[in-house]
Amino acid sequence: MSKKSLISIQDFTKEEILHILETAEEFEKNREQDFLKGKVIASLFFEPSTRTRLSFETAVNRLGARVIGFSDVNNTSLSKGETLKDTIKMVNNYVDMIIMRHPLEGSSRYASEVASVPVINAGDGANQHPSQTLLDLYSIKKTQGHLDNLTINMVGDLKYGRTTHSLLQAMSHFHPKFVFTAPESLRMPEVYRDFLDANGIDYEETTHLEDHLDDCDILYMTRVQQERFTDPIEYEKVKDVYSLNASMLGQVKENMKILHPLPRVNEISADVDETPYAYYFKQAGNGLYVRMAIISYLLGYR
Ligand code: CP
Repeated sequence: MSKKSLISIQDFTKEEILHILETAEEFEKNREQDFLKGKVIASLFFEPSTRTRLSFETAVNRLGARVIGFSDVNNTSLSKGETLKDTIKMVNNYVDMIIMRHPLEGSSRYASEVASVPVINAGDGANQHPSQTLLDLYSIKKTQGHLDNLTINMVGDLKYGRTTHSLLQAMSHFHPKFVFTAPESLRMPEVYRDFLDANGIDYEETTHLEDHLDDCDILYMTRVQQERFTDPIEYEKVKDVYSLNASMLGQVKENMKILHPLPRVNEISADVDETPYAYYFKQAGNGLYVRMAIISYLLGYR
């Protein structure tokens, strides 16, 4: 098998996406796998992370491989001025795969062009977060029983929220309808609205959270991404724009589920956690099985 990386969710066909979801289901039934014994995988996090890094590193360990890497660039030679290109060329000498998060859009694609081993994009700026999308799809399928003809209401920071961009593209294989709930300054970017138009997919935009709580199958909440704002005043204007609480969920569909890539700040109140609609912590747990499946597939095993 020639080298294959996962940089954008569009690097995977619909069949590959479904294959990953099936493999993840197998790993959820039995997570004690060790067929990657002898492999070494780099985990390079140039930007903070809790879930993505720890679930990827756990996935590597569960598959029997070992991890090297860093989660603080100040402890690397990047702090002495070494370039991303040189860093990737070095690490490429040591490992069988690179998992990378970086604040710059396009950085993972660039790394995949420099490296001879597969690269997984664990988030590049406001661009893409494809492994999150695969675990989102896994969570949607698990809670709804299927992926087809669902109404997905994406709420919050749709401009900088990279998980919404990847999810929108992945769901386009499954005849979705979208609602985009965002303030004007954080609207879904034109490039993604054009993508939906070109693919004949329906979407509606609103600024009011109450408008489409009752007719969606998935309520996909997101955090306003403070770290992407260049002007702190603009962040202050929108930081608490939506706050979901349990009293707002009285008329929702019985099987509606609330997803959130996490971390959350104020957009979901703690009383929602106790409702049958909250799925975000289980969603994060699903990341382990999905990331095990992604690593296995890209290394040519399953
Ligand atoms: N969902 C997500 O990417 O979380 P972390 O930033 O904690 O990895």
